[in-house]
Amino acid sequence: MAFLKILKEGIPIDPLPPQKTRDNSVPHAPVRNTHLTHDEEQLSLKNSLRYIPSHLHHALAPEFARELKNYGHIYMYRFRPDFKMQAYPITDYPAQCKEAAAIMLMIMNNLDPNVAQFPHELITYGGNGQVFSNWAQFWLVMKYLSKLTRSQTLVMMSGHPLGLFPSSPKSPRMVITNGLMVPNYSTRINYDRLFALGVTMYGQMTAGSYCYIGPQGIVHGTTLTLMNAGRKYLNLNDLSGKVYISSGLGGMSGAQAKAAVICGCIGVIAEVDECVLNKRFSQGWVDEIKEDLDDLIQLIREAKSKKIAMSIGFKGNIVDVWERIKDEYEITGELLADLGSDQTSCHNPFDGGYYPVQLTFEEANKMIATDPAKFKVLVEESLRRHVSAINLLADKGLFFWDYGNAFLLEAHRAGADVAARQEGGRLVFRYPSYVQHIMGDIFSLGFGPFRWVCASNSPDDLKRTDHIAASVLEDILEEGVPPLVEDQYKDNIKWIKEASSHKLVVGSQARILYADHKGRVRIALAFNQAIKNGLLQGPVILSRDHHDVSGTDSPFRETSNISDGSAFCADMAVQNCIGDSFRGATWVALHNGGGVGWGEVMNGGFGLILDGSEESECNARQMLSWDVLNGVARRCWSGNSNAADVIHQAMQDESRLEVTIPHDVLDECLIESSFQNV
Ligand SMILES: NC(=O)c1ccc[n+]([C@@H]2O[C@H](COP(=O)([O-])OP(=O)(O)OC[C@H]3O[C@@H](n4cnc5c(N)ncnc54)[C@H](O)[C@@H]3O)[C@@H](O)[C@H]2O)c1
Repeated sequence: MAFLKILKEGIPIDPLPPQKTRDNSVPHAPVRNTHLTHDEEQLSLKNSLRYIPSHLHHALAPEFARELKNYGHIYMYRFRPDFKMQAYPITDYPAQCKEAAAIMLMIMNNLDPNVAQFPHELITYGGNGQVFSNWAQFWLVMKYLSKLTRSQTLVMMSGHPLGLFPSSPKSPRMVITNGLMVPNYSTRINYDRLFALGVTMYGQMTAGSYCYIGPQGIVHGTTLTLMNAGRKYLNLNDLSGKVYISSGLGGMSGAQAKAAVICGCIGVIAEVDECVLNKRFSQGWVDEIKEDLDDLIQLIREAKSKKIAMSIGFKGNIVDVWERIKDEYEITGELLADLGSDQTSCHNPFDGGYYPVQLTFEEANKMIATDPAKFKVLVEESLRRHVSAINLLADKGLFFWDYGNAFLLEAHRAGADVAARQEGGRLVFRYPSYVQHIMGDIFSLGFGPFRWVCASNSPDDLKRTDHIAASVLEDILEEGVPPLVEDQYKDNIKWIKEASSHKLVVGSQARILYADHKGRVRIALAFNQAIKNGLLQGPVILSRDHHDVSGTDSPFRETSNISDGSAFCADMAVQNCIGDSFRGATWVALHNGGGVGWGEVMNGGFGLILDGSEESECNARQMLSWDVLNGVARRCWSGNSNAADVIHQAMQDESRLEVTIPHDVLDECLIESSFQNV
């Protein structure tokens, strides 16, 4: 693509492109609350003008000031590129090295309008997951990447490219931090202020590390969650005729519709944003759209009786759906929902993450900007109604769980009856969380959402990698795996064998596959060999969700089963990122926030390019083992026996690995009695 040469040019200022305002061709982020004083507004404007040569300040300052006033942030819409934003093959980018071109590919994918939630506000998913804070940063980063050599590293601070710094071929080519704060200042209000000042941003998990691969990234996990919920709560392996109700068809939540059909059940997903709903419908991820509750109930009954696997998108508020399901139960005695959850962006409830039932979508978006205090009151009331309907249905047999979106936490804060209690210094709720309770103790076993992108952009390459990954996992299974992980292997082999038939690709040619450290390393080595032999047409970029074994410290989610009191510590996520950075990662990222919200989690991720070389082989061996096993070791130290089994086996397999193993307290009475005479 010859036009991609433009990426070398930096911010287009000569001539200035024509001014652009918001257009209706794509969904837009809600107007942000800035909480800025007048002085701070001026500081924000001054900050933004740092990207622009002084002689253009008179032309651009009023426009940027208007953006701040109108939208609560300076996005610099004028500099939004006119070319089609999408992942192009790695060979198309104007770059000095493959690593830089791989990063360019991943950035372009994260901003592709088919992939991104609010592409013009540079938001990939999760309501506020930014790739960059403004469009000037996009152009600057692309310019730096087009110059970057294998003896330089590009430093990124919350969207801002600090610059290229000399390093060595073994160093990461990019080091990213997003939203890192001095701990006492990591409050929501400071996030709003500092984002408006243009000095920090919320990178979610894979938005700000450029590793998002569309909703597919989450379909596999959601499928496993639904299957396991069926096994655990309904005692069923077959979910046909069963109904799963939830909300959200956005970045990650959109996966629910697809996963429900893959599992053979009826998925009913409410979505307030018509644009989002239509996007999933046009992608074929939602089979039917209903706007009327009577029609919805009729269709659920029909699909239930005929046991049709289908996904129904309800255009409206999830609270209306739950209250109607409750009414149906009260009138007819029929429970129309078997499984339920919620995937509104409740980690960010007062800024457009959760739409209250009392308002239309349009009214809500207006009130967020005009009367945030009243909006907050309505959100809290809506959350209480939401939980109250679910509670009644749960008493009658519905199985509900928290989907890691801070729904129960925020509902509890809003005064809803989620039966919160303190347990081991932590809040525990009436309903379980999907990570530990439903997906099982997978992180302690080293399993997590490994993923790859075929940099050739060729669907044939993706098919070949699917095939290679399936045969690697089958080989490992045949060689023998501990009984504890046998089911994991079988489920993942089934997934990867069927993956292409589910037409999951949106954006880059990517695949997700849950795997443990052994699986990840062996798959990576097999890919590298296939690139070397010419079986694959181009390099492969490995990555994972930050939501993984070692990448995330989040006391209500990924580390909710850490029982030694360290669930609120973030050493693991930070160590994980540092360790990846000197073991061969092509780029690394460390974030505050992501999933459950600003200040509630630290998480990190990486990208690793395989190009068929010996160096790639060495990087894959070293980095992928560390990337998984450091989290398993930490989980083992916290007293988890599954993790202890995995780490003992890993030490047998690799003599250089030596992990500190905890000694068991064999006499529990000793602990209490020791304090009696002190
Ligand atoms: N899918 C997963 O596996 C997973 C895992 C961890 C966390 N999460 C969490 O799930 C949440 C959703 O993630 P996302 O990327 O899809 O976010 P998103 O913002 O892209 O999508 C959420 C959607 O919910 C809709 N919505 C909000 N309030 C609603 C309401 N009351 N009724 C109906 N629809 C409503 C919004 O319009 C939006 O489209 C986030 O908090 C995320 O952290 C998901």
